[in-house]
Amino acid sequence: MTERYALIGHPVAHSLSPRIHFAFGQQVGVVVDYGLIDAEAKGFAAAVADFAATDGVGLNVTVPHKEAARALCTTLSERAQRCGAVNTLIRSGAGWHGDNTDGAGFIHDITERHRIDLRARKVLLLGAGGAAQGVAPALLDAGIDTLWIVNRSPERADALSDRLGEPGRVHTRYRDDLPSLGVFDMLINATSAGRSATAMPLPSTLAFERTLAVDLSYGEAAIAFLSWAKSTGCETTLDGLGMLVEQAAEAFRLWHGQMPDTDPVYAELRAAAVGLRSAD
Ligand code: ATR
Repeated sequence: MTERYALIGHPVAHSLSPRIHFAFGQQVGVVVDYGLIDAEAKGFAAAVADFAATDGVGLNVTVPHKEAARALCTTLSERAQRCGAVNTLIRSGAGWHGDNTDGAGFIHDITERHRIDLRARKVLLLGAGGAAQGVAPALLDAGIDTLWIVNRSPERADALSDRLGEPGRVHTRYRDDLPSLGVFDMLINATSAGRSATAMPLPSTLAFERTLAVDLSYGEAAIAFLSWAKSTGCETTLDGLGMLVEQAAEAFRLWHGQMPDTDPVYAELRAAAVGLRSAD
């Protein structure tokens, strides 16, 4: 039997994940069978069942399925429980074990690759969907001071805040409150606004030159937010390409028991990054 792996999401056609996992496999001498499954929300559970029935043992999960994936799991890692979202599925007997590698990948990229200290920062998280849920607990664990969550749908921000369970450090606000929140040490765009034509207006009062601005997307989808951040004077702006590689490495470790070297894979993708589309 050939063990199969895949990314499931919608859309997935332009995903870099197969390329990343093949490269990791070559490094450690494992032949990786990693495909793409394009499934809309209503077809998610059936697509996962089909995959399991045809030697599927590991899935990466992306938009819009990270919350549905959590509901489907028979067991969850501690970090997936805290997130409320699952981005990695591991076959476990007749069911699935769910994990979330987004937070570890995000923190590793910022603190190890870019050598940025996150401690004591006042952080604004824009968005409360699957991507935001993945990184929020890891940010708190990394020692930030306070986390402010603002989402288009306020109830989703409140649900994320409640799940994090740290009312002294985590605050939610409405989008209309943004101009009165003052300046932040770190801004994170975890919305998918950059993948649509809808602009996300932000006041320039949120940032100053030492504000770190991070978009969890990469390529075209990260351009609008990072251009805005640069226009407000932010000297350090990062896209989500490094996080993409790091979260994939952590998933690879869970599936194959070996941690790949992410630096050469990141360097190769970065060199080819102009015009990349964001699709995990
Ligand atoms: P992902 O896994 O990328 O987080 P998601 O779970 O569908 O995908 O979440 C998308 C996030 O982007 C949500 O926070 C969404 O806001 P809502 O919860 O109100 O839907 C946010 N979002 C999407 N389009 C947006 C836009 N045009 N402006 C602001 N926020 C947007």
